[in-house]
Amino acid sequence: MGKKILLATEKPFAKIAVAGISEIFRKAGYEVVPLENYTAKEDLLKAVADVDGMIIRSDIVDEAVLAAAVQLKIVVRAGAGYDNIDLKAATAKGVVAMNTPGQNSNAVAELVFALMLYLARGAFSGKSGSELRGKKLGLQAYGAVGRCVTPIAKGFGMDVVAFDPFIPAAAIQKDGVVAVSSLEELYKTCDYVSVHIPKTKETVNSIHSALLATMKKGAMLINTARAEVIDEPSLLKMFAERPDFKYGADVAPACAGEIAEKYAGRFVFTGKKMGAQTEEANVNAGLAAARQIVDFFEKGDKTFQVNK
Ligand code: 3PG
Repeated sequence: MGKKILLATEKPFAKIAVAGISEIFRKAGYEVVPLENYTAKEDLLKAVADVDGMIIRSDIVDEAVLAAAVQLKIVVRAGAGYDNIDLKAATAKGVVAMNTPGQNSNAVAELVFALMLYLARGAFSGKSGSELRGKKLGLQAYGAVGRCVTPIAKGFGMDVVAFDPFIPAAAIQKDGVVAVSSLEELYKTCDYVSVHIPKTKETVNSIHSALLATMKKGAMLINTARAEVIDEPSLLKMFAERPDFKYGADVAPACAGEIAEKYAGRFVFTGKKMGAQTEEANVNAGLAAARQIVDFFEKGDKTFQVNK
């Protein structure tokens, strides 16, 4: 029987991705209802009322949304991080939650270098900057994004090291990356640290002074993961005490105003989360999400379920 699928994207996909998603659902005999650029939660609550499935990006799917979605069976986060879905509430309601791991990783990896180069070149001020070649890049976590960052870094002539307690050292080393044995070592020994951890109860505020203060002279921190994994008082302390420190992030921390006021040229923040905002990533993640929904309804496939 035809299903009704909501495409709820406060930050819309590129048109080409929406066309591809629609085509997949059309072939399956499903109806797609787009809800793009919405500003009020009310609009989302209304739109979910009669849908069987939904595709989201960073859109918040909390208890209220799940309660309003009386027919909902599946929500797919077209992307990696699913910290925007209340998994407990979804499980309690019998709703399957999935992500589309790896589909938008290259876009995020490329943004890492956009942020790095901007800061390394003095925020394009014309002042003398520094080069990436010969510098040591530390990857905090070696998942899909870390694996995409590696070859680009090597292309720049950087040495790459990584710390990931969940990935065997051999799997890291086969990419020509040195697996360090502690986070402390990563922060202490690298010229650049790029953060690729998910936002979880354990990781929120987990990057704090004990790590930041040990960073090398002239060190740079790049965060394309989630703003909240950095402890903001520690970040402000680092900016205040270490005039050599630079921070680039997708997206701005809550204390961005204070940083902008006092530390011009030492930071770069995207206005809206844009690591995965490329046509290619939209197509990869969006179409994967649509296929996962069809496979779930037609074949009972739950391969990418995250609330097991
Ligand atoms: C992700 O977790 O996949 C990224 O943060 C992308 O988020 P977005 O879909 O809101 O751009």
